[in-house]
Amino acid sequence: NSNRVYTIASIPGDGIGVEVTPAAERVLEATQKRFGFRLDVEAVDYASCDYYTKHGRMMPEDWKKRLEGKDALLFGAVGWPDTVPDHISLWGSLVQFRREFDQYVSLRPVRLMPGVRSPLADRVHGDIDFVVVRENTEGEYSQVGGRMFAGTDRETVLQETVLTRTGTDRILRYAFELANGRPRKHLTSATKSNGIAISMPYWDERVEAMAQHYPEVSWNKFHIDNLAAQFVLNPSQFDVVVGSNLFGDILSDLGPACTGTIGIAPSGNIDPERRFPSLFEPVHGSAPDIAGKGIANPIGAIWAASMMLDHLGESDAAAAIMRAVETSLSDERSRTRDLGGKADCAGCADAVIDALNAA
Ligand code: NAI
Ligand code: MG
Repeated sequence: NSNRVYTIASIPGDGIGVEVTPAAERVLEATQKRFGFRLDVEAVDYASCDYYTKHGRMMPEDWKKRLEGKDALLFGAVGWPDTVPDHISLWGSLVQFRREFDQYVSLRPVRLMPGVRSPLADRVHGDIDFVVVRENTEGEYSQVGGRMFAGTDRETVLQETVLTRTGTDRILRYAFELANGRPRKHLTSATKSNGIAISMPYWDERVEAMAQHYPEVSWNKFHIDNLAAQFVLNPSQFDVVVGSNLFGDILSDLGPACTGTIGIAPSGNIDPERRFPSLFEPVHGSAPDIAGKGIANPIGAIWAASMMLDHLGESDAAAAIMRAVETSLSDERSRTRDLGGKADCAGCADAVIDALNAA
């Protein structure tokens, strides 16, 4: 009898996506009872290689109409290279969602969790806690360019970086808003205005202009090469890090790599204006090498579910999930094998639910 009802499409996809997504759904179920909201979850069987095998395409033609009214999408992983080439499975599903739903923010938390060893020496839980905000629609990944005189000595290849004021300002606004809502209120911008001397000075200019609207937020910028080094040398200094499509892509892999395993890293593909549903997923893929064994780490998917609740405005429930995740990760018995534990996927999710219920 709560009037906070959200419609969710659950899209498990392939491989361990089919194992970790139900685990995350069980955690969500346990949360809604406690926090007084309701999730109306529709199970989606397309955006998977099984669907492709049956229908010759990754998704039905009217997929957009079916999904555009949802409040959010909970995604597992897509890809089964033995039967469908990766570029077909990825471009036929995930890339469609990102494009058609204009999910222009890619959001990746970087947090060193208990029970997880950082590859960086002497870092412990609490030392690293920031988010990478990546522009997800333009920049260096543009379709503007071409190849001339192919196969000759004059072979010429061009690909242009596209920065629009709309595209630049909207990602920067999101990043400043995010920083403004966090205790440390600090933003770092990735640039390379010394080398890429036209587009990156423009990016810097827009950062400076946006900063005027956020007097409470302190900010700085690093050239991308030094910034990459700083991620490794002194990651504690960061709070919100914002970058163009290419720089953000690299940083959103480097960041989570500094905090341990791919099994726990989550990601959000977000339309902050909420014209379309945003998509939340674990960073990892379908892991064919361990699929079907029930041993996948569900924490990435569970953390993604927590990000989804945050996006829906259920921040108390989202925070409760993260506390439960920390509690369960602290106990070796509830960790999966990739973290040196013995729990299987379901057992790890059970431990999170127990911790939720005990809190
Ligand atoms: P992957 O992330 O699936 O696996 C890399 C390695 O990490 C594997 O050894 C795997 O066993 C391990 N691993 C991944 N997630 C784990 C978890 N939750 N618990 C324990 N171990 C875990 O990346 P890979 O092998 O490059 O790609 C496999 C398939 O997934 C391909 O078809 C690829 O296209 C697709 N993929 C899909 C993504 C998505 O849907 N967003 C992202 C990355 C890859
Ligand atoms: Mg990447």
